[in-house]
Amino acid sequence: MSRKMKNKVLKNLTIERIASEGKCIAHYDGKVVFVQNVAPGDVVDVRIRRGKSSFMEGDAIHIHEYSKDRVAPFCSHFGVCGGCKWQHINYDLQMNYKRQQVVDQFQRIAKVPIPEVLPIIGSGDTQYYRNKLDFTFSNNRWLTREQIDSGEEFERNALGFHIPKRFDKIVDVDHCYLQGGLSNEVRNALREFALENSLTFFDMIKQNGLLRNLIIRTTTTDETMVIVQFGENHPEQIEQVMDFLAGRFPSITSLLYIINLKKNETFHDQEIHTFMGRDYIIEEMEGLQFRIGPKSFYQTNSKQAYELYKVAREFASLQGNEVVYDLYTGTGTIANFIAKKAKQVIGIEYVEEAIEDAKLNAKENGLENTQFYAGDMKDMLTDEFIADHAAPDVIITDPPRAGMHEDVVNMLLKLAAPKIVYISCNPATQARDIALLGEKYSVDIVQPVDMFPQTYHVENVVLLTLK
Ligand SMILES: C[S@@+](CC[C@H](N)C(=O)[O-])C[C@H]1O[C@@H](n2cnc3c(N)ncnc32)[C@H](O)[C@@H]1O
Repeated sequence: MSRKMKNKVLKNLTIERIASEGKCIAHYDGKVVFVQNVAPGDVVDVRIRRGKSSFMEGDAIHIHEYSKDRVAPFCSHFGVCGGCKWQHINYDLQMNYKRQQVVDQFQRIAKVPIPEVLPIIGSGDTQYYRNKLDFTFSNNRWLTREQIDSGEEFERNALGFHIPKRFDKIVDVDHCYLQGGLSNEVRNALREFALENSLTFFDMIKQNGLLRNLIIRTTTTDETMVIVQFGENHPEQIEQVMDFLAGRFPSITSLLYIINLKKNETFHDQEIHTFMGRDYIIEEMEGLQFRIGPKSFYQTNSKQAYELYKVAREFASLQGNEVVYDLYTGTGTIANFIAKKAKQVIGIEYVEEAIEDAKLNAKENGLENTQFYAGDMKDMLTDEFIADHAAPDVIITDPPRAGMHEDVVNMLLKLAAPKIVYISCNPATQARDIALLGEKYSVDIVQPVDMFPQTYHVENVVLLTLK
């Protein structure tokens, strides 16, 4: 981009459509201009922030005409908190845009023939659908321009979410529409208690402060797990906080805490202390029970996870005599969900605790045809592993956003199972992997599922069959 363009204001651009990662697209002088936090159909003035020779990025500084597809955002934190970027777009259109993202990514990256992408399966709940939220304590609360300009004194401690692109600034959340159950009450009560008792909120620059994170997990069976992560080890204050939560919220089924003195707040390598109740919660699906530990992955929209798993099971079309590999199995939810319809199911996942949960889940549900193994997929799925186990008739794979390691894709090509059901939360990496699998597989069905209303994220299930 020429220097002249930086900070230049482009007037009256019409926002045309939504591209990947939720960015909106307009054109100026034949070049693409990416703009965030607007809607297709808006007419806006855009201040250019940065750009390359073929595109520019900018911020909308004035809206001349609002798109007819806009709706009023329901959350008072909308626009500041990065959580629900699409609250201003009506839900039917959100679903169309998500489906279109899948179409675009597959056309651009997959480089194999694809059938028409099916209409997205919408989420029954478009609010309060998440079963897990992670709030951060900070002594560096984000204040809006109006708050600063008002000259008023504001409390600087906050408990809420990170501001996009500002790791050290936290928006103080007063109500979050993403999680129901006890979530809002627990967060607000704990903040109030901490302020009343002058407990310190974490300082991300100095790396000190007692209260660091609050993680809340809920289930459709009304169980609640609350995890408080402390950044300093003061046993009396820790007990004071945990006693308060236990006394005020006796219905918490799993009350846990972690003392994390590391630089980062991830806790996969930290000891978890149980203060009250069990060290897991139980989710239910079709009469099966799934135990979920504090370190284990579980799909964040429980009700919609059921719809997703039904699609995967339908695509696998099991007759009862198949060996199924469930790759990236987490707590073995898909493996256990389909076990009754298969001869044998083998689940692989690298979080050891999740694999322990997967085994317990199988046992407690009386499933005897599942086996689970912990390890990195590229190191687990080897010739030796296949020699020691039956070869798969169906592979279900559900990798993280980064997609599958190339060695894993090559192994899938070598295994040449008749069917692969590929579930992904990132259609771009899924399309990249499918481009490689295209050597032996054809794409039969593409079914997007909406797991995350009010955001641009899309889950996608693809059925691949051996050519
Ligand atoms: C999108 S989740 C899928 C979980 C599961 N299929 C479900 O529906 O609950 C991806 C899982 O892959 C695991 N994972 C990530 N990278 C891995 C790797 N390199 N090897 C094995 N498992 C991995 C994560 O721990 C996580 O449980």
